[in-house]
This record gives sequence, structure tokens and C-alpha cells, in this order.
Amino acid sequence: MSEIHTSVQEYYGKELEKSEDLKTNACCTLTAPPKHIMEALREVHDEVQAKYYGCGLTIPSKVEGLKILDLGSGSGRDCYIAAKLVGEHGEVVGVDMTDEQLAVANKHIEYHREQFGYATSNVRFLKGNIEALDELDLEPGSFDLIISNCVINLAENKEKVLRDAFALLKSGGEMYFSDVYADRRFPVELQKDPVLWGECISGALYWNDFLNIAKRVGFTDPRAVENKVITVENPELEEKLGDINCFSVTYRLFKIDGLESDCEDYGQAVKYKGTIAEEKASFDLDDHHNFPAGKVMPVCGNTYKMLHDTRFKEDFEFYGDWSTHYGIFEGCGGAMPFSVGGEDSAAASCC
Ligand SMILES: C[S@@+](CC[C@H](N)C(=O)[O-])C[C@H]1O[C@@H](n2cnc3c(N)ncnc32)[C@H](O)[C@@H]1O
Repeated sequence: MSEIHTSVQEYYGKELEKSEDLKTNACCTLTAPPKHIMEALREVHDEVQAKYYGCGLTIPSKVEGLKILDLGSGSGRDCYIAAKLVGEHGEVVGVDMTDEQLAVANKHIEYHREQFGYATSNVRFLKGNIEALDELDLEPGSFDLIISNCVINLAENKEKVLRDAFALLKSGGEMYFSDVYADRRFPVELQKDPVLWGECISGALYWNDFLNIAKRVGFTDPRAVENKVITVENPELEEKLGDINCFSVTYRLFKIDGLESDCEDYGQAVKYKGTIAEEKASFDLDDHHNFPAGKVMPVCGNTYKMLHDTRFKEDFEFYGDWSTHYGIFEGCGGAMPFSVGGEDSAAASCC
């Protein structure tokens, strides 16, 4: 067990007892969840909710029947929401390394089984290190969806986490997760600060390092779903941070064969049928792809694949093929994908 792991276990197992004990707002969810998540959340046990330390929304639409893995599941809040949304025939596995967090998660398995009216529970928790997922009893290529909420920043070897996650996903599956990112690399002395690391700040990746790692392990075209500025709300820690800006960002990373490094134009288009229960009027693939029901929309080759080679296939009509290439798809940039004062990054109050 490394020094960082011991310090993180100490922080989440002993130092913090409930969400209000956090010293900054980094591990706080700054966005109100959509209605169907709120409804599921109301059924989650109070003790589980009290120990929630997530920073964003991690459950995408259309999860019924899916097999989901939650990395760093903590007291199990997102696992239990997912357990409700996947239904009795879906399955949820949570992995965490801190005994105290696992104890709370495990304590309420039966409560949620009864609450959801399932004959047998569809959720289980494993003790393990998310930097060694390949050593756990998990079948490669067996998960439809991998979620994680404010955890990967706490890992030392983030590339290993993403590489193992990629291996565990089915083809056409996705990793949909929320974490903290910075607008530059953290100086080593701040990375050694146990409170800044424990609060999910100084372990955060510089956003472009994250994108490069994700692409290197096989998630060729990472898509940001939403982002919020983290305002920290702690004068002493803010002073240590100086000009470094942090963001809570939800990304979706699809495991799809043949995605290209850039958005290429093959003259393709799609039409959303309005059939996804949670997003009938329009479907948001990411923060710059909104598909109103019934409207034919031109898409790049990668977006076409994200809709065609995944669980969303039956919800779209597809036009065109791959026979003619028209060059780069207009509007694909390489700039920082979120901004301190931008429309999408309004800071909000939390916990
Ligand atoms: C900020 S909390 C988030 C917990 C949970 N996702 C939530 O939203 O409440 C971070 C959690 O990740 C776990 N964790 C951190 N690093 C880990 C690692 N390398 N392997 C397994 N769990 C880890 C901690 O034990 C803690 O429960």
C-alpha cells in the first residue's frame, strides 16, 4: 500500500464522517441531477447519502438492463441509484479500497433490495484498488458502462486506471464519469499536501494530459458532457492554489473500433427518434451535440459511430456511408474545452 493510498484511506475512512466535513467544494456536485436521478436518489438510504463525496453526474441516459462498474464507489450512493435505474435484470458492481466506506455500502444492500422490490439484490461491492482492476475477479470485456465520481484524481497511476477500465468494457460500451481537472499541471509540493490531495484537488490531472492519456489507452475521442468551475471556498487552500483553476467535468469515453483522432466528414447525418425515455424532446450526446427529436443533423464519422455502434443505435435513423471523405468536419477545435467564465462553467453553491 503506497503512502498516498494510506493517506486517502485515512481521509475517507477516519477524517471525514459526512459530506459537510469536506474542507472545500471540490467533492461536491454543483449541478442539480435530472428528474429520474432525483427520484431514484429519494429511495437511497440516508446514511449512504450522508457520506457522498462525488463531484458530478455519473449516470447517463438509457441504462436499463446494463452491467455497470463504479470505480471508487464509496458509501454506494451512485451504485444504489444505478441499481434502481438498471432494473432487476441489470447489475452493478462497486469497487473501493476503504473499509469504512465499504462497510456503509454493504450494510444497506438488503434495505435497497426491499426498497426496489427486487427478488435478489443486483448490486455488490468489492474491496480493491482501482489501479489494479486487472487483479480483481472481473471479466475483461464484460461491462456495458463504467462510472466513477471524484475518484480517479486520487489515484497515483491514472493511466493504469483508464487502461484497465478500457479492457473491462464491452465493445460499444462507455466510461461516463465525473472528476476534477486543472488548467495546468500541479507543482510537486502541492501534490504532496495531504489535504489538497484528499480533497480531490492537487491530484487532478491537467486537462490536456488527461485527454492524451485517454487517447493512449484506446478512448480515441473523449467527449466532455458538462463542466463547472470549482470555487474551492477555503481561503487558506485558495492561497496555496494561486492562479491554478480547477473544474469538475463529466466525460464520456466510448470504446468503439475505428474512431479517428479527429472528426472527419463523410457527409453523414442522423435523426433522433425521440425514444430515450429520459430525453424524449432532445438527446444530449455531449456538451456540443444536442439532437432534437425528428431533426436531421449532419455528423462527423466519430459521432455517427458513437450513435450507431452503441446502445443508442435503435434510437436514431442513419443516413450516408463511408464511401466519400469530405475533409475535416467543421467546428472541431483543439482549445481548452471549458472556461473559467464561460456559459457552461457557472459556479454554484453546494453541499
Ligand atoms: C471523493 S470519494 C468519492 C466516493 C464516491 N464515488 C461518492 O461519490 O461518494 C473517493 C473514494 O474513492 C476511494 N478511492 C480512492 N482511491 C482509490 C483507489 N486507488 N482504489 C479504490 N478506491 C479508491 C476512496 O476510498 C473513497 O471512497
